[in-house]
Amino acid sequence: MGRTDFRIAPSVLSADFARLGDEVRDVIAAGADLIHFDVMDNHYVPNLTIGPLVCEAIKPIATVPIDVHLMVKPVDRIVPDFAKAGASIISFHPEASDHVDRTLALIREQGCKAGLVFNPATPLGYLDHVMDKVDLVLVMSVNPGFGGQAFIRSALEKVKAVRSRIDKSGRDIWLEVDGGVKAENIAEIARAGADTFVAGSAIFGAKDRREAVGRMRAELARTA
Ligand code: DX5
Ligand code: ZN
Repeated sequence: MGRTDFRIAPSVLSADFARLGDEVRDVIAAGADLIHFDVMDNHYVPNLTIGPLVCEAIKPIATVPIDVHLMVKPVDRIVPDFAKAGASIISFHPEASDHVDRTLALIREQGCKAGLVFNPATPLGYLDHVMDKVDLVLVMSVNPGFGGQAFIRSALEKVKAVRSRIDKSGRDIWLEVDGGVKAENIAEIARAGADTFVAGSAIFGAKDRREAVGRMRAELARTA
């Protein structure tokens, strides 16, 4: 018997930014459980996106939690701004923080769930001493920086390894996968142990977003 508590998180990176509010409303109507909010700084990753002002602007429209994915370095000084802007979850890349334990604590002190993000080549050792302070682990299945890239299959092994660490911890830690997720591979990713799925181009790029989310849910249901 597989799990049934799956979450689908459309990434606004692939939204039409000229109509962002309508785009957020639209994917929520289509069945989104979270809004995934990609923050890039043109320093930690080679792209530049959106910040706390935009998060604050969509907050009244986002009737589901905002899942902030920080691809920024340094991390700490921007965390309180996102908490104030209405983020529910704030995740960061451990290589981008000098003090991972401190950053996790800071996110929680600000009243948010704290997530650690692992790039395809980042070792899971960063979890070793902080499992009790993590609310979410995000496994990247592309190198961060852009939407629309192909899923890197080695991420599946990593998801399995994270799942076993989470199960051992006995804590309710979400396991999210980000990059190249679509209806065609979502079941395989779920079977590896993920419960939360970021999808940018596969949802925002679909003609019928409700149908796109529905197809993903149908695939997930088959793993239950
Ligand atoms: C990539 C971002 C992803 C991106 C995913 O750095 O973290 O959230 O939007 O886009 P797709 O689903 O198109 O791969
Ligand atoms: Zn992301």
